[in-house]
Amino acid sequence: MKKLIKNGTVVTATDKYEADVLIENGKITAIGKNLSENVEEVIDAKGNYLFPGGVDPHTHLEMPFGGTVTSDDFETGTIAAAFGGTTTIIDFCLTNKGEPLKNSIQTWHEKSKNKAVIDYGFHLMIGEVNENVLNEIPQIIEEEGITSFKVFMAYKNVFQADDETLFRTLLTAKEHGALVMVHAENGDVIDYLVNKALKDGNTDPIYHALTRPPEVEGEATGRAAQLAGLADSQLYVVHVSCANAVEKIAEARQKGYKVWGETCPQYLVLDQSYLEKPNFEGAKYVWSPPLREKWNQEVLWNALKSGQLQTLGSDQCSFNFKGQKELGREDFSKIPNGGPIIEDRFSLFFSEGVKKGRITINQFVDIVSTRTAKLFGLFPKKGTIAVGSDADIVIFDPNKERVLSAETHHMNVDYSAFEGMKITGEPISVLSRGEFVIRESQFVGKPGTGHYLKRKRFGSETKASEEVYQ
Ligand code: URP
Ligand code: ZN
Ligand code: ZN
Ligand code: ZN
Repeated sequence: MKKLIKNGTVVTATDKYEADVLIENGKITAIGKNLSENVEEVIDAKGNYLFPGGVDPHTHLEMPFGGTVTSDDFETGTIAAAFGGTTTIIDFCLTNKGEPLKNSIQTWHEKSKNKAVIDYGFHLMIGEVNENVLNEIPQIIEEEGITSFKVFMAYKNVFQADDETLFRTLLTAKEHGALVMVHAENGDVIDYLVNKALKDGNTDPIYHALTRPPEVEGEATGRAAQLAGLADSQLYVVHVSCANAVEKIAEARQKGYKVWGETCPQYLVLDQSYLEKPNFEGAKYVWSPPLREKWNQEVLWNALKSGQLQTLGSDQCSFNFKGQKELGREDFSKIPNGGPIIEDRFSLFFSEGVKKGRITINQFVDIVSTRTAKLFGLFPKKGTIAVGSDADIVIFDPNKERVLSAETHHMNVDYSAFEGMKITGEPISVLSRGEFVIRESQFVGKPGTGHYLKRKRFGSETKASEEVYQ
């Protein structure tokens, strides 16, 4: 099956040019002016950008958390992702202490099987280290192509691991070619502050933010970076929310440590004052780390622009306001943490970033797709428009104006964190490996067509992706 996309403007992390793109058997096979092949289908993309499909490094689909389960599963979540211009996600596979890691991976395969409409991979949580875990990690890298491992420094008595676990995971990752990811907040200090707030009768959503101040994120980020430096290993800090943590990452990179940082759209456009919305609506804005004072937004934008932060994750973790966020009405510590973003990540970033002149269009592609594919062993299969790459392509109208709303989004959740926000730009059609998933703003994909992605080892790539060290 051959398709030809004509007259679009191809945008990559380095270039922007008008060209036709030929697709054969799911791959891009030619890019050039006035291509005239014998094809089954010609798609006119005049006036639109052709972006490589977004790569979202951070999702939690059908994840048990906070006494409930996230409301988007691999079907609704990946459909929403596709509507939003994302064609690859990497979801976090949770593990249980004392159980073989491969059991948890099996659980995640079962959750995703016959559901995903775009390609997906898994990161694996490491909650403890012992001989069994250390023996299993190389097997999992080899057999499952899982080349990134996540350690939580927060959520005491739930996911939190100790420093020995983090350090030994870093050493193992270095040896076997994997990337260690951290949720960097000091869980012990947070636990103390939360208990104290509740004892003092402070139960409203705003206390979620006040009991997780920037210092606890900065401290944990700095600690993780130091341990990565000591292990001479590679570290990726997820959901960086504030200046304090950005400074720690910049400082580590200045020393030559292999440390990268991700931020999320919510930290770029929302702020701590949202947690004070009346009638418990603040619960909709409960993330960990929490939304910060507004001035941090400019620091995050500048860090993306200057390369001190490299990627944008959605941290998709949706809970309905009714019945789920409401679990914390009497006690902010029982509000399930997280929000629905998978659909909005790409366009919101384009609108707030490119349209408002904060980043260039090439930086946009790099941050939302290319750099992530490189860091997580998917480049150049994913993350670019090039001959030989998968035909994961977003046909994007850069001038279409619209309003974000729960009325029109496709996530399986009863509110939008960006309700009423006006943005410019929309993915009109989205192809995954050459097949339309979204066509003229309609879903035309099929659950189960998304492939599980075995990823390459960290640093094992040749030439093109050596820029990962930038
Ligand atoms: O609040 C958040 N970020 N929820 C998702 C879980 C996590 O910590 O990434
Ligand atoms: Zn986290
Ligand atoms: Zn997360
Ligand atoms: Zn298939």
